[in-house]
Amino acid sequence: MNNIQIFTMSLSDFYEIEPIYNSEFDDFWETSILKAELENTNSKYIIARLDNQIVGFAGIWISVDDIHITNIAVKKSYRNNGIGSILLENLIIMSKKLNKSSLTLEVNTKNIYAQKLYLKFGFKNLGIRKKYYNGTEDAYIMTLYF
Ligand SMILES: CC(C)(COP(=O)(O)OP(=O)(O)OC[C@H]1O[C@@H](n2cnc3c(N)ncnc32)[C@H](O)[C@@H]1OP(=O)(O)O)[C@@H](O)C(=O)NCCC(=O)NCCS
Repeated sequence: MNNIQIFTMSLSDFYEIEPIYNSEFDDFWETSILKAELENTNSKYIIARLDNQIVGFAGIWISVDDIHITNIAVKKSYRNNGIGSILLENLIIMSKKLNKSSLTLEVNTKNIYAQKLYLKFGFKNLGIRKKYYNGTEDAYIMTLYF
């Protein structure tokens, strides 16, 4: 998909996707978490637009020595079309400009597609966080060093 456009995510973008968030993004967050993230000055979020509809979003949280990818999600019917890759590429560019040395994330050990996305961009699997999700499911810790 070569007509994807990337923008900084605003609160009005949040209200645009809020009604379809659970059904069409099928993401692991509650919408309240995304809204709180947009109001957090240490966070930066972007959206992907196609034909004027929001088809994906992603964000980072900036700490003293590292940057954390907090979430990346593509609308269910648009997945496997390269949109996740475009979002991740933009997060990497943003992160490099912030002069930090690495970008880290957690991913569910069962989430094979997300892991493939991160491996494609050079992230390394550095270990496991047991029972990271809801006290039951494990996460891999993956990091990209610049
Ligand atoms: C993970 C997610 C963001 C990927 O978005 P996407 O737009 O489908 O990603 P892309 O199309 O750029 O695919 C990236 C890679 O993932 C793999 N992949 C994605 N979907 C796949 C599928 N249906 N079958 C096989 N491989 C797939 C491929 O390796 C692909 O790279 P390639 O096509 O160059 O080989 C998307 O699946 C999603 O929104 N999942 C739900 C939310 C989530 O789990 N987020 C991750 C939180 S850690």
